Amino acid sequence: MTLLRFQHIMSNEISKRAFFSRPPEPPAEVLINDPLQSLYIGTTKIFRVPFSWTFANLTNPHISVVGITGAGKSYFVKTLLLRASYIWNTNAVIIDWAGEYKAWVKQTGGVVISFAKGDYLNIMDLSGMKPLDRVKQIMNSFAILTDIGSYPEQRRLTEEAIEQAYVNSGLILSEKPTKKSVESPTLKMVISLLEEKLQEGTYEYPAELENAIYRLRQFAREGEDYFARRSTIDLGKLAESGLVDIDLSGLPDERFRALGALFILQTLKEKMRAEGFSETKGLKAIIVLDEAWKVASDDKSDAITIVREGRKYQFGLIVASQNPTDINEAIFSNVGTSFILRIKFEKFLNYLQGSLNFSDFIRSEISKFGVGQAAVEMAFQTAIRFPETFILERIQGEEPLYVYTIDLTDVLTQSELSAGLMVRDYQFEKEELRNKFIDFNISSEGVDELFQRMDAQARTIKVIDFIQSLREKDVQSSIIIAFLKSLSLDDTIITRIVQRAGA
Ligand SMILES: Nc1ncnc2c1ncn2[C@@H]1O[C@H](COP(=O)(O)OP(=O)(O)OP(=O)(O)O)[C@@H](O)[C@H]1O
Ligand SMILES: [Mg+2]
Repeated sequence: MTLLRFQHIMSNEISKRAFFSRPPEPPAEVLINDPLQSLYIGTTKIFRVPFSWTFANLTNPHISVVGITGAGKSYFVKTLLLRASYIWNTNAVIIDWAGEYKAWVKQTGGVVISFAKGDYLNIMDLSGMKPLDRVKQIMNSFAILTDIGSYPEQRRLTEEAIEQAYVNSGLILSEKPTKKSVESPTLKMVISLLEEKLQEGTYEYPAELENAIYRLRQFAREGEDYFARRSTIDLGKLAESGLVDIDLSGLPDERFRALGALFILQTLKEKMRAEGFSETKGLKAIIVLDEAWKVASDDKSDAITIVREGRKYQFGLIVASQNPTDINEAIFSNVGTSFILRIKFEKFLNYLQGSLNFSDFIRSEISKFGVGQAAVEMAFQTAIRFPETFILERIQGEEPLYVYTIDLTDVLTQSELSAGLMVRDYQFEKEELRNKFIDFNISSEGVDELFQRMDAQARTIKVIDFIQSLREKDVQSSIIIAFLKSLSLDDTIITRIVQRAGA
């Protein structure tokens, strides 16, 4: 039997009690941080608290970002990198699967490395490592990307040939290279060694040798030897060169992209370990993996090693993906912060809710988010008594969203207009259009003038005026045509535009 009783209680005691049974947002002291030691992201949805991110009280500095296409993942990553560079002087290396960051990095004065467009990387380069360690890493990449793991004999043959190639180049397998002048061998030399062995004809299982050669050749064919030649870039300097974009989009397929990405991660991991512990505030470097296929999902990938060890070296990893199940569980459950942008699929929502444990309320909000809205989940070092997930009204980047319109109605005939089959206008978000201009090599003054002109006309321009302004900027006809083609316009319309604009 229970009796209801009134209690005498002082107001200061009431104030100690939680007002809500479950407060809807973490307390302000967690969300608001020293502006000189944290990165502003946006305001919270319920109490409009300005949230600035720091990893000081979190389990680690790593971040996962998930959301459907167009939800704002890359926009968030760019915002974070810029602010980290401003506040902490953080360097960044973007492993750019789809070439999405290239134009932005150029624009911010960073370095772009474009494979398949003149830049090569020798995956046998040592960057100060012992050859034996590099051999393990190379074999590890092949195990992730090919079926070599199922063929122990071929694995052994390949490994031995790689070791032999290092020895032939005058390197000692168990020692770090002392002289800078010793050049690393290439994959092509490894293949030659295997071929010689095959020609000798004394090896018992020639089919094994043939298959081992065949597998390596896929990465060393003439014209596709991006990773089988002497390097044109110094990877050792990558983590200290400001903002670096590694554009993998020109490579022929996912395996090539992954081979490059795995090798870069391996090199950065070694660099991180070699530099030792760091006393600096903030982050020394951030590595970004955006849509990186097996690189973020395979257990053997160094993305996982970096997540496990990065904190003590002040190295942060950001993994972004449209598909949360593509991010390895070990990464996902270990990152200090997750930014969840709009997610539609039930399957993905189940996976996220299962690993991050947010409420059904948050789950239903995530499925309704607009561009740039996000749920944030942080893993604190100490036990806490508030919800770890909260909602941001919008990630506040450097620039608002402006739509620019190129109007085509003037070049369409009456019947085309009434049939309604042709596109009447093109709309671009400002950054998107700017990136297009940069991609078409229009000078930065030219780009600024074009925007000024459009801004003066409510951000709209008739296609003929637009093309004539390009002509005034001395943009060549071939570039103008390539630009129009990139809009997937009909050839007849392109011809019409070009003739009328006198380009
Ligand atoms: N927080 C935001 N505020 C204003 N505009 C935004 C915001 N986030 C994204 N945008 C705009 O929305 C568009 C899509 O964003 P973004 O490219 O970042 O999407 P994404 O999630 O990376 O998509 P994808 O998976 O296709 O790469 C861009 O034009 C970007 O400028
Ligand atoms: Mg993106």
